[in-house]
Amino acid sequence: MLRTGSPQEIQLHGPCVLVPTMGALHAGHAALIRQGVELARARHLAGGCVVSIFVNPTQFNDPSDYARYPRTLDADAQVCCEAGASAIFEPSVETIYPAEAPPPVPPLPRVATSPGLEDAFRPGHFAGVCQVVNRLFSLIAPHAAVFGEKDWQQLQVITAMSRSLGLPVEIHPGRTVREPDGLAMSSRNRFLKPEERTVAVAISEAMIACGGCETPEQAEQVLRTRLDRPELHVEYAVVRDAGTLESTILGGRPCRTLVAARIGTVRLIDNMPWPLD
Ligand code: PAF
Repeated sequence: MLRTGSPQEIQLHGPCVLVPTMGALHAGHAALIRQGVELARARHLAGGCVVSIFVNPTQFNDPSDYARYPRTLDADAQVCCEAGASAIFEPSVETIYPAEAPPPVPPLPRVATSPGLEDAFRPGHFAGVCQVVNRLFSLIAPHAAVFGEKDWQQLQVITAMSRSLGLPVEIHPGRTVREPDGLAMSSRNRFLKPEERTVAVAISEAMIACGGCETPEQAEQVLRTRLDRPELHVEYAVVRDAGTLESTILGGRPCRTLVAARIGTVRLIDNMPWPLD
């Protein structure tokens, strides 16, 4: 497996599927990489599946969050190798953000600014995400890219951005992988203290509990009741249109339950389809 910071070296191997990550890889990322490997194989892409690992400073609205974001490159390389990746692209900050020609922040789609979810609680976050994803696409020129459903709003933002910029990259969603008790896998889970880890499962349990409600309003009431615990600081717990993430839900449109909550110093997000089958 190739490891390089050079986009030219990646491109030399031919068209690929890109799995953009910030490292600290876990079983959820491994599933995205396996999906990328399969897709590259099915499309006969000579470059296979390339995993980018870059902790992107511009998407952190809290500098201390950036500073403490886990950096585990050697363990990450092991995960990539076992999942069948052909290469890891590990660029320097200078490669992504050259001082002489900083990449622009593309115009943000409405879903990045209007819903009042991650856009409201992490101001500037999606500007950084769009900037880095656009830059990665232009450096690597992938045929397709895989993004996890765990970051549901991010997935909608990147899909809308790619569409509006006319980028020639297929965006593929990857299913969320969960711990046996239902907690969505996240690089941040490692920061949960044992007693916080026990509380964290309340998030997926609440989303499952509201999955059979008759209306979005009832579902949100169930979410509020189930998440009303002193250890949990809920930022949002809502049912929204799955595509626009607006609260106006037109008949027949798919919906999504979305939750963000802090437990101690750890911020967790999760989502599920609503209603649940
Ligand atoms: O989801 C992530 O890990 C990041 O937001 C991404 C898409 C790799 C951009 O830095």
